[in-house]
Amino acid sequence: MNFEQLFNQISPDDICDHFNIFELVGKDFYAITAGNKDHYNSMIGSGGGFGLFFKKPTTWCLFRKDRYTLELIQKEQAYTLSFFPNEYKEQMLFLGRKSGRDSKKMKEVQLTGIQSPSGNMTFKESKLIIECTLTAITTPNPNDFYSQESKDYIDEAYKDVNDYRSLVFGLITHVWIKKDNDK
Ligand SMILES: Cc1cc2nc3c(=O)[nH]c(=O)nc-3n(C[C@H](O)[C@H](O)[C@H](O)COP(=O)(O)O)c2cc1C
Repeated sequence: MNFEQLFNQISPDDICDHFNIFELVGKDFYAITAGNKDHYNSMIGSGGGFGLFFKKPTTWCLFRKDRYTLELIQKEQAYTLSFFPNEYKEQMLFLGRKSGRDSKKMKEVQLTGIQSPSGNMTFKESKLIIECTLTAITTPNPNDFYSQESKDYIDEAYKDVNDYRSLVFGLITHVWIKKDNDK
């Protein structure tokens, strides 16, 4: 089946009619995918969210600087967030266990890559796909944070990669929902 046989397009405003955002980002997690059909890479993201940024529907995610997916996002300036039904969770989490920079995880994972009509890569098994174009990559300064918990979180990545986390904002260009999940 091709992309449009599998997914219906919905407006960003309607995501909440179908899903609980806190569950999506906090329990389901999601695959962040960038690249093109010949070479793409995914990692798992958690937390972050969706809302309005400069009045536009926007997603935001936090990345450690060394993620290969982040490098591809910068190169292509576009990416997808893909959310999966529970039955695919193990496979999806596999994408968060090793870097695609020095592994063949995209060939090993038992998920089926598919290109959206705009050319972005995602997976046939997704229940929800959010396509984004890159708006901003910004590095939060720990001195701008007031709660100890948030400072610690931002600081934590510094120990491993000698840099703070990146906050990535993406303009939502398309939202797709699996036809079976459509109400
Ligand atoms: C449940 C889960 C959530 C994760 N959330 C994030 C996240 O929000 N930001 C991040 O930078 N890494 C996160 N990771 C780690 C990356 O997914 C992981 O390091 C991945 O292998 C990076 O792949 P890449 O280098 O191919 O991009 C998470 C991993 C798991 C298992």
